[in-house]
Formats: sequence, C-alpha cells, structure tokens
Amino acid sequence: MGNPSPPQPRSPQRRQSHNRKVPHNAVQSLISTLFHPLDPPKHPPRKPSTMTLPTTTRQWVLTNKPTDLVSLSGPSPTFTQSTASIPSLKPNQVFLKTLYFSNDPAQRGWISKYVKADRMYVPPVSEGEVMRARAISEVLESTAEGFKKGMLVSANAGWKEYMVTDAKECSPVADNLGVKPTQFLGALGFTGLTALYGIRDIVRAGPGDTVVVSGAAGATGSMVVQIAKNMLGCKRVIGIAGSDDKCRWVESLGADICVNYKKPEFKKELIKATEGYVEVYFDNVGGEILDLMLTRMARHGRVAACGAVSNYNTSQPTGLRNWGEIIVMRIEIRGFIIFDFAPKFAEATRELIAAYKEGKIRIGDESETIVETSFEDIPRTWMKLFEGSNTGKLVTKLKYGESSSL
Ligand SMILES: NC(=O)c1ccc[n+]([C@@H]2O[C@H](COP(=O)([O-])OP(=O)(O)OC[C@H]3O[C@@H](n4cnc5c(N)ncnc54)[C@H](OP(=O)(O)O)[C@@H]3O)[C@@H](O)[C@H]2O)c1
Repeated sequence: MGNPSPPQPRSPQRRQSHNRKVPHNAVQSLISTLFHPLDPPKHPPRKPSTMTLPTTTRQWVLTNKPTDLVSLSGPSPTFTQSTASIPSLKPNQVFLKTLYFSNDPAQRGWISKYVKADRMYVPPVSEGEVMRARAISEVLESTAEGFKKGMLVSANAGWKEYMVTDAKECSPVADNLGVKPTQFLGALGFTGLTALYGIRDIVRAGPGDTVVVSGAAGATGSMVVQIAKNMLGCKRVIGIAGSDDKCRWVESLGADICVNYKKPEFKKELIKATEGYVEVYFDNVGGEILDLMLTRMARHGRVAACGAVSNYNTSQPTGLRNWGEIIVMRIEIRGFIIFDFAPKFAEATRELIAAYKEGKIRIGDESETIVETSFEDIPRTWMKLFEGSNTGKLVTKLKYGESSSL
C-alpha cells in the first residue's frame, strides 16, 4: 500500500501533543454548535460503512520545508508518501476514514522554512510529521459515547486515509440543515467565521461604508462580500478577483462591481471603482494589491489584514511603497487570527445559518470547488489554491479503490 519510503513520521503521541496547542476551546465551541440540532433531522441517517478496519494508512509526510514554491518531485520534495500502522482503539476514541480535506493557504505558512514557532498562532509542522489538514471523516468504529458508526465528523486528520483519535478532538457535522457536509469546511466552518469576524468585528463595516474585498471569489472573500452587502448593509461592495468569470460570480453574490486584477487595465479600473475613496478594505492577498489599496483609502479608513496569499510562496515578499499613506490618511490596519474569536464561534455559526435560511447568504454547490483526488494527488490539489483554480472553498474529495464501500 503506497510508497514505503522513509523518513518515518514521529510517534502519534508526539503529533497529538502538537495538536493540543491548537486552541481547543475554539474547536469545542464549534462542536457544541454543530452538535445541537437546530431543526428536526431532514435526512435519513447515513448508512454506516461495512468495511473491515484497515491496519495501515497511507500518509503524506513533510520532508523538506519549502522556501519558495512547494516542490512535488526532484531530489528534495516538500512531501513524501509513506505508510504507517494504525493503533487499536482505546476508550473514548474513534476510528476515522477521511472523506474530504479542507485546503487552506495557511497550510503553506505552517511548513515554511523561515517561520519561527514563537511567531506563529499554531505550532509549525516539523519535518518528519504528517502534513496537517482539517478534514471531514466518517466514523468507522467508536468507543466513545455519542459517536456512532457512519457519523460524519470534522477533525484535524492530516493528509492520511485513516486515523484513530480521541473523540474530543472531533466535531460532529450537523446533517439537518440541508447543506452538504463539506460546507462545514468552508462557508459554515472556519472560513465563514473568518469572514464574519474580520468584516464585522475587526473593521466594523456598516451601512455608511464602501468596502473593497480582495480574493473576492475565494472561500473567505466570497463570504465577506455577501456578509458586507446582505448582512451588514454596506453602502457599496467592490470585489477584486483573478478572472472575468470569477468577477461576474462575485457580482452575482451582491458586489456592486468586481475588478479582474490580472487584466492590464486593473489599476485604472480599480481607481475608477473606488472614486471618492473607500472606508474599508478586507485584505486577503497582501503584496501589490494591498500597496495599491493604501492609496484608495479614505481618511481614517480601516483595513482588515486577513491574509497575504500573494506572498506565501516566495522568499522575497513584496514590500510596501505606500506606507506613508497610513500616516497621512490615519489608516487603521488590524491583523487578526480566527482563533481569537473562539468564544463566539457557536453564536457566530448560528448567525451564519440564520442568514443562510433568510436568503442573505448563498451556500450551495457554487460556493465550493470539489476536486476528486487520488491519494497520490493530495498535494497537487492543495496547490491549486495558489493557481487560482478554485471558486469558493477548494475541497479535496478523496478517492478510494474499489474495495471501499463508499
Ligand atoms: N486570519 C485568519 O484567521 C485567516 C483565516 C482563514 C484564511 N485566511 C487568509 O485568507 C485568505 C483567503 O483564504 P481562503 O482559505 O479563503 O482561500 P481562497 O481565497 O479560497 O483561495 C486562495 C485564492 O487566492 C487567490 N490567489 C492565489 N495566488 C494569488 C496571488 N499571487 N495574488 C492574488 N491572489 C492570489 C486565488 O484567487 P484569484 O483567482 O482571485 O487569484 C485563489 O483562489 C488567505 O490569505 C488566507 O491565508 C486568514
């Protein structure tokens, strides 16, 4: 099964101790949201898998921390496939089969050669460890109360097919809302929460504001656009995205206009779209677009520094030439990490669900790009994030061989 090449991953105990540093109250808060049905179940219970439990799993291990673009081949590949044995179940544990992976630009930060552990919000992934990733998995076996066979949970699975983990590390996925489970990796998961927290709490956008959102067709950006326009009632919402098709989709979500940053006339078009300047900028990309946006902010404008994806795959990030604008225009820039919002996760998830039910935010097939992927291609699918292949949330649907009962 798979490529048995070394190096071996660290012991499961070691990996779990790393995982413990991720704020658990955050995850627990989300668990309580998803676990308590808001409505009577609409779907029949999922038919549990009848497969015999495997004793080994394939996994992708971080072998060489990248400085620039991730390398998938050659003498120093970033990741290497290996096989590990699966421990037997102890009390209060679950045996999981991964169905879907969340793909997040943040994963690139966790493996960066240059990142220092004391400057991170979660521990970096070390060389020799399984690549960390959030997933939706099926419970194949359980010794934990409340976790039945066939149930779907969200967990930090890492790039593996199977795993045994403590049930308290897993969030049961609600099956009574009429949305696909994968939406709990995107619009109703950390991505949607990031959008809500960033635009409402960090930059306090409201009816008097014109808002610009970069990465507007991505998982976070597409939620920011909808929340700003349809939940917060912002005066005008302007998107920035990487193709004309993406821009038209962003406009269909409620943006007044969306500008394609890959077109030569982008700068001219952005200046025209932001005539009179803007109060709020939600920055998902950093780099040149952030630099340009500093020149488009109104006096006392507010910038939410959510991400800087344009600089994640380079050892020479773009510097800011327009720093002086921050001083002269008294611009407020606030960085944030979604885990800071942990105490409000449950409440915020309910708000997003209510907004969905009221038709204020659209959550459906169009809000995710699901890529069916063989185990060998997991890293390749993740890298699509940096090629702009996704509209909405990029989700990996893991393909299994014919022996799988799924
Ligand atoms: N602070 C937090 O707690 C937090 C939480 C979640 C996410 N984030 C950040 O939010 C941002 C969006 O994350 P996401 O999960 O929603 O991913 P996403 O936007 O769904 O996917 C990444 C998108 O980034 C765009 N992109 C890629 N390379 C780019 C480049 N060089 N310049 C400009 N745009 C580029 C692509 O869209 P185009 O086709 O439009 O280029 C791509 O689809 C990331 O920066 C991420 O790190 C922060």
